[in-house]
Amino acid sequence: MLEIGGDGRTWLLSGPASSYALSLTEDDELLHLHWGARVDLADAEELAARPLPPHWPFESRLDGREEYPVEGGARFARPALSVRTDEVRGTEWAFAGYEVEDDGLRLRFTDHGLAVTLHYRMRDDVVERWVTLANDGPAAVEVLRADSATWTLPLREEGWRLSQLHGRWAAESRLVRSDLTYGEQVIGSRRGHTGHQHLPWVALDADGATEERGEVYGCALGWSGTWRVCVAQLPDARVQITGGAGYDDSGLVRLEAGETYTTPVFAGLWSDGGFGGASRAWHAYQRAYVIPDADRDRPVLYNSWEATYFDISEDRQRELARRAASLGVELFVVDDGWFGARTSDRAGLGDWTPNPERFPAGLTPLADHVHALGMQFGIWVEPEMVNPDSDLYRAHPDWVQYRPGRARTEFRNQLVLNLARADVQEYLWERLDALLADAPIDYVKWDFNRCFTDAGWPGEPYPQKLWVEHVHAFYALLDRLRAAHPKVAFESCSGGGGRIDLGVLSRTDQVWTSDNTDPLDRLAIQHGFSQLHPARVMAAWVTDSPNTQLNGRVSSLRFRFVSAMAGVLGIGGDLAHWSEQELVEARDWVALYKQIRPVVQRGDLYRLRPPTGGLSAVQYVLGDEAVVLAWLQAQRYGEPLAPLRLRGLDPAAAYECRETGEVHRGAVLAHHGLPLELRGDLDATVIRLRRI
Ligand code: GLA
Repeated sequence: MLEIGGDGRTWLLSGPASSYALSLTEDDELLHLHWGARVDLADAEELAARPLPPHWPFESRLDGREEYPVEGGARFARPALSVRTDEVRGTEWAFAGYEVEDDGLRLRFTDHGLAVTLHYRMRDDVVERWVTLANDGPAAVEVLRADSATWTLPLREEGWRLSQLHGRWAAESRLVRSDLTYGEQVIGSRRGHTGHQHLPWVALDADGATEERGEVYGCALGWSGTWRVCVAQLPDARVQITGGAGYDDSGLVRLEAGETYTTPVFAGLWSDGGFGGASRAWHAYQRAYVIPDADRDRPVLYNSWEATYFDISEDRQRELARRAASLGVELFVVDDGWFGARTSDRAGLGDWTPNPERFPAGLTPLADHVHALGMQFGIWVEPEMVNPDSDLYRAHPDWVQYRPGRARTEFRNQLVLNLARADVQEYLWERLDALLADAPIDYVKWDFNRCFTDAGWPGEPYPQKLWVEHVHAFYALLDRLRAAHPKVAFESCSGGGGRIDLGVLSRTDQVWTSDNTDPLDRLAIQHGFSQLHPARVMAAWVTDSPNTQLNGRVSSLRFRFVSAMAGVLGIGGDLAHWSEQELVEARDWVALYKQIRPVVQRGDLYRLRPPTGGLSAVQYVLGDEAVVLAWLQAQRYGEPLAPLRLRGLDPAAAYECRETGEVHRGAVLAHHGLPLELRGDLDATVIRLRRI
């Protein structure tokens, strides 16, 4: 809902539980008024009437109060917008009007030839913000920095606490909380992709929010390239969060006359339901507005990577497919190694045709076999990359990012294709479109296995734009492929969880959470992931024990399955080596997962206990059904476990436990908890409850 003040200079956006308000001063300064619990227009107008502090030397009266601080004037805070022409630098804008569209608001400003439009749209309680810049003048404008939004938090007497998700390869999405102090805390990626190091999300709370109580502010950026989010506590304790594409302020795009640039969306959410309430609101938002077909549950998949690595043959894949089908798997995915001369990571990337020795008649016979077994068929690709030892590179050595006269970096023996080039875009479209047309492929795992380092573009007058244009080309290619092959689902992968953000999630069906498939490490990774993203997109595989990919940890099939059942279940172990007994047990787990799948993938998530060493548990609630997944890392001193207090149930209703047949009152489960019988190390259980 959008309400506008009588003077046409105060705006109030409201969702079911929250409001966001801003207003324009007589001097066209755009000030933030309110973000938090729902308020009325009269409240916003009272706030708009409060005078700004007087001018003091050494301080700015605008810092910490503006919706979108530009460079220039009496400001010292980090600008969200920094532009220059050959003649001038910075921005002195004049208000040019506003428009209301659907549930959104557009505020237009101009500065000579540059039109700056700030966009606001309320999606339930998530405020989406982005900016468009249009060069309507004759002179070129260089955009050094154009953030998507600046978010302003209310002044609080208590200090603020910052939550973030940090990590690295095989250890992504780990939650840390720390007190915010004066100055700037910057997270981001200068790597060309979202990165394993931080998810583009922060949360802030001021008075000790808990999992289920207290006010929490969160911001998440929808961008899959280089990015930066800066949380700044200014000298007067005001806090602002500014974020957008690009890491440095050294140039994003150059707008010639008539050109426009649109920033990615930076979404903000206020919740007074603690961290759990905030996560549930983020999940609901993504299922409703971001993730394609989120009401359709994701199938149980098998992926051959950890079973065969590069040692792929059609016979071996057929045998794995037979075993996978017998377990109840619904989608069989051939990972890396099926194309070109790709028998190791040294060759073949770029040559997207089936390896003639491995698949003499192409992929269709294997796909047909998989389909005959009742499963969908998927493949792995990494379109943005090339091995120097490939036909593509030999034909087009100038298609890669490089800086002439400078040493070139290879990671995993590969280079990055310059996707900003039209000829590269066209080649990839033709190859991938043909690939999807030539064989009955239902699923594509789209990988990205190295960062940008030599992001040069010889011959291009403004090579810097490659960072942004690569991402736009990646999005356009995915969009075009999805439109041409609407039945094909896509997974975003980047060496595990290196490309997870709201931008890629708006055009993919699920993400590969981490290359770390150890079921214990995964609990912490999944705990972090769930702060922002829903189980519906969180792919999780059951692999072998001892764990081959990472740490050799030995764990039971039970523990591995219950860990992976917290998201989109997959199996990635070498089924050829699983015993008959293990295969029988696995079949039962897959069948159980299919029963709880709608609740896990579409339900509300309650994190009952975080994975900190002892007992941890999550609960999902959908309608009359609830599912609890609980894991015991290590029991100490033979201590019995405290019953698990459940959430989100109707206290006045009774619930039948499908595991024991016992009936429990909702109020008893909420206040006194559900007794658990876990013991020893790495034990786990699934409990299904149905309201009766
Ligand atoms: C990346 C992915 C893995 C696997 C390999 C294949 O590391 O994260 O799951 O697909 O590439 O090379």
